[in-house]
Amino acid sequence: MIQIQNLRVSVEGKEILRNIDISFETGKTYYLLGQNGSGKSSLALTLMGHPKYYVEEGIITIDGENLATMTPDERSHKGLFLSLQNIPEVRGVRLGEYLRTIHNKHLSVGNKPLSPFLCRRYLTTLTKELSIPDSFLDRDLNVGFSGGEKRKIEILQMKLLNPKYIILDEIESGLDIDAFRTVAELLARVKNPENTLIIITHNFRMTEFVKPDEVIILKTGEIVERGGAELVEKIGMEGFGE
Ligand SMILES: Nc1ncnc2c1ncn2[C@@H]1O[C@H](COP(=O)(O)OP(=O)(O)OP(=O)(O)O)[C@@H](O)[C@H]1O
Ligand SMILES: [Mg+2]
Repeated sequence: MIQIQNLRVSVEGKEILRNIDISFETGKTYYLLGQNGSGKSSLALTLMGHPKYYVEEGIITIDGENLATMTPDERSHKGLFLSLQNIPEVRGVRLGEYLRTIHNKHLSVGNKPLSPFLCRRYLTTLTKELSIPDSFLDRDLNVGFSGGEKRKIEILQMKLLNPKYIILDEIESGLDIDAFRTVAELLARVKNPENTLIIITHNFRMTEFVKPDEVIILKTGEIVERGGAELVEKIGMEGFGE
């Protein structure tokens, strides 16, 4: 479980999140919704340990351990995964090699690292599932990839690492109608009693594929409403309001 108590966060001296109290329980799916600029990405980046997001007050724990003292890398090893809203391009790092490196760095005890050959074979099964050409594995990480292709690569990383806590920041953005369905169906299959999904989205159709256990609404850096799937329907009809 990830537990957030009385969280207050600032960026470059400007307060962007306050009074945040939430628990993300294992086995559940959460939707984090809100207007543009309400603080959704800031909360995701704070959880992952982005150095610009400064925790002024409050406690965040992951499976009982204090998250604040962990580096982003340590958070990742604790099972935290974030698919960024703005996905960076990394020149000079080949996608296939990058994926093999992160896979081998996240091995569970007793598992052997994958050789380039075996890893390629494994990655090919994942690329097929996501309708990504294999040749992408030989290209630089995200360089020149379309918006939708970058999203798919994020999903590929998620499948590869099988993380316990999955935060997806607008994973649907830029996906065409078929890719949206592929990704939504895949997420529905990824969900299991051992993991937690935290979905940030502006496309409420996602909830038809991956059912929310809890819906959390942020407004100007604070939680203003929480509820079940019925909240999505209400906001779909009425909007977030002023
Ligand atoms: N690094 C930063 N520097 C300055 N301001 C920031 C920074 N990060 C976030 N903010 C500000 O914090 C507020 C919340 O931004 P955030 O990106 O978390 O919103 P969001 O809910 O993810 O919006 P969207 O739906 O548009 O993605 C905004 O007013 C934004 O300008
Ligand atoms: Mg955002």
